[in-house]
Amino acid sequence: MAKSVGPIGRREFVKSSVAATGTILITKPGTAFSARANSTINIGLLGCGGRGNSVAGDFVNHTDAQVTVLADLFANRLESTQKRFNELQQKKGRSKVSKTFQGPSAYLDIVESDVDFVLVASPPYFHPLHLKAVLDAGKHVYLEKPVSTDVRGCMQVASLALKAEGKVSAEVGFQIRYGSHFSELTRRLWDGAIGDIACVHGFYFAGDLPRQSVSGMSPAEAKMRNWVFSRILGGDIMVEQNIHVIDAYNWVLRAHPLRAEATAARKVRTDIGDVSDHWIVTYYYPNDVRASFMATQFLPSWGTVGWRFFGPDGFSEAFYSGDLNIQGKNPWVAGADSMAAGKKPEIDPLGDATPLKAQAFVKSIKDGNYHNQLKQGAESTLSAILGRQAAYEGREMTWGELLASDQHWETDIDVTKLG
Ligand SMILES: NC(=O)c1ccc[n+]([C@@H]2O[C@H](COP(=O)([O-])OP(=O)(O)OC[C@H]3O[C@@H](n4cnc5c(N)ncnc54)[C@H](O)[C@@H]3O)[C@@H](O)[C@H]2O)c1
Repeated sequence: MAKSVGPIGRREFVKSSVAATGTILITKPGTAFSARANSTINIGLLGCGGRGNSVAGDFVNHTDAQVTVLADLFANRLESTQKRFNELQQKKGRSKVSKTFQGPSAYLDIVESDVDFVLVASPPYFHPLHLKAVLDAGKHVYLEKPVSTDVRGCMQVASLALKAEGKVSAEVGFQIRYGSHFSELTRRLWDGAIGDIACVHGFYFAGDLPRQSVSGMSPAEAKMRNWVFSRILGGDIMVEQNIHVIDAYNWVLRAHPLRAEATAARKVRTDIGDVSDHWIVTYYYPNDVRASFMATQFLPSWGTVGWRFFGPDGFSEAFYSGDLNIQGKNPWVAGADSMAAGKKPEIDPLGDATPLKAQAFVKSIKDGNYHNQLKQGAESTLSAILGRQAAYEGREMTWGELLASDQHWETDIDVTKLG
């Protein structure tokens, strides 16, 4: 196995956090929740779009939690989400959504409301700001990935990780690590199923994404609603979408990349935004492990996502579509139970990932055994940013150079005039 180089050093975190925020977060004493084994967990959903609805739905369907407060920049998102959760929760005999907050300062209202945790599913640009507000209010947090779109934001989140430690539970939306088949595969690789990992290969070929439109929207509102096509708001697809595969590399190798070479282009999808539509990246991990990665995001309806690890004793494969296996000296196939029963293994490896993560998070709050994935989330986001910056700058980029860059992006949109 590749030896772990350990996550971002504490010294790097502290140094950069001071540069990034100029302050040290103090979680309000007494506002963090104590263990609450028997009570229903109330969720505040900040960012009522596709992912927020999906993850909050998994909490309601797979735990005894309920969504009680919503916040969003735009009224139409609040209306549809409130209706959805009122109907879903009524069927389950749970409460209705009691409050909604709209506009650019809605995040400040939701963190002060009577909820146990805030699910942050706003666009990535806002994640450091929204995370800090949740932690300042002493609430548990489930933060969607990526944790930021720039280096400074990642370092701020890493610094917030230190301050959150032991006081609240903090998850980051890398649900694949909770998927039962993915985690079984990773455990086998850690146990040496293919020997010391020599090299890695992965890809994220995705379909194009829908354009968002509402009548009468201003150019600024159009840009915000279509944040995924903006580098500054979304981080570019390497960071916004492909990050799941890079997180899997880091997870299995128990390390972050040391340097990267990359290229990216905007060749097919040129009608909107400034993000690239395809990427080719080579990462160099400790122990001379090289990892290739390729992505596209422009075809109308085709997509496939997967990764392979190669070692002297065999190789592993993992695909979103369901085929997870190890071939070589220690063969294994996910879903082999159904194979033994004479059937082809049919598994949905992503199917149980978010539900299991939701259950583990609620349990951590109820038991008082708090999780803290902020540092790991910052590290995976920085790993994706490393590939992105190597491509943008057209040169090899090292981890140290990236952290030292203190890269900081600000949108030209006046967010206070939206919503
Ligand atoms: N873990 C996963 O597999 C996964 C999958 C999809 C998306 N995501 C992540 O989830 C997040 C949201 O993605 P999405 O696809 O739901 O996007 P979306 O555009 O559908 O939803 C974002 C929501 O946030 C709202 N919003 C925008 N700015 C806001 C602000 N300043 N304050 C409050 N609300 C604001 C928007 O109006 C919208 O309702 C992103 O970080 C994305 O990368 C994760």
